[in-house]
Amino acid sequence: MTIRVLGIETSCDETAASVVLREDNGQGTILSNVVLSQIADHAAFGGVVPEIAARAHVEALDDIVAAALEEANLTLTDIDAVAATAGPGLVGGLIVGLMTAKALAAAANKPLLPVNHLEGHALTARLTNGVAFPYLLLLVSGGHTQLVLVKGVGHYERWGTTIDDALGEAFDKTAKLIGLPFPGGPNVEIAARDGDETRFAFPRPLKGEKRLDFSFSGLKTAVRQAATAIAPLSPQDRADISASFQRAIVDTLDDRVSRALTRFRETFPDAAEPALVVAGGVAANQAVRGGLTNLCARHGFRFVAPPVKLCGDNAAMIAWAGAERLALGLPHEDPMRFAPRSRW
Ligand code: KG4
Ligand code: ZN
Repeated sequence: MTIRVLGIETSCDETAASVVLREDNGQGTILSNVVLSQIADHAAFGGVVPEIAARAHVEALDDIVAAALEEANLTLTDIDAVAATAGPGLVGGLIVGLMTAKALAAAANKPLLPVNHLEGHALTARLTNGVAFPYLLLLVSGGHTQLVLVKGVGHYERWGTTIDDALGEAFDKTAKLIGLPFPGGPNVEIAARDGDETRFAFPRPLKGEKRLDFSFSGLKTAVRQAATAIAPLSPQDRADISASFQRAIVDTLDDRVSRALTRFRETFPDAAEPALVVAGGVAANQAVRGGLTNLCARHGFRFVAPPVKLCGDNAAMIAWAGAERLALGLPHEDPMRFAPRSRW
């Protein structure tokens, strides 16, 4: 059966809604994908303010849902289920999105699918590139940095995680330290284009260690020391720090993920075309993508990166994760009583 799922995402600072279609053979199509970024609302504060985010979701969500249905040329009655991010994330936003989804599901008499935001990121590559299970996932976002073995929908094995900051957080903090505007990640990438990546010798945390974890707080400290030593910073200083920082990130990912690819091979010696999938906001970074592309070429892995628009937070990934669960008959028990889980 072909199914159409309306998805809602409000876990951080994007208000998003999308309609995704899933065919019997597992193929997916995005019928609409509407994302309203709140960046301008938070820029003056240098970061996402939870209370402002929740209020902005309340103001925008109805129109965003209407726009997603209109763009898909559908009405609520044509939809087979309503999916919404139920966690992890900022609880105010989660409440707005999940409660709206409950109201829509109740009004249209359709099933409600509470979706884990990380599962949304994890399964996006199946929607965009039709990747088959099992695959190795590198999730690099503002709140998470994980290596995950994805065995199937709902079957995840965490192989590594950060012991301190998330990678996106490291980008954002570095930007702040050297006076680049919010949002930090994209601005570091832009500044790095004109920089000398060899000027600062930043550390490659945990390089050579056997376990598959990450650590980025030492890198941040090194950036702070370098910036303090040469303050006030010129635009060229900012560019050089950004480029040297990004180089350290690319090298670190190469070392850590390389070990995970080896472990994947040992775990699945018969895998015909093993794949590494990257997801999360930092996956939009071209230097990170380039580094992972080289790494996969060396290891004989297929490298899969969703289009940049689907790396950051969006609702197509939530609708899709809901559709994958619905197709397998895996909805949650009593979903209308499902409460938001900010630390899910
Ligand atoms: O997945 P995401 O949109 O939200 C979370 O679920 O966290 O990720 C946001 C993170 C932020 O830390 C942002 O700075 C980072 O992804 N990011 C980037 C780039 N674009 C977004 N980091 C480095 N380079 C980029 N181009
Ligand atoms: Zn995310």
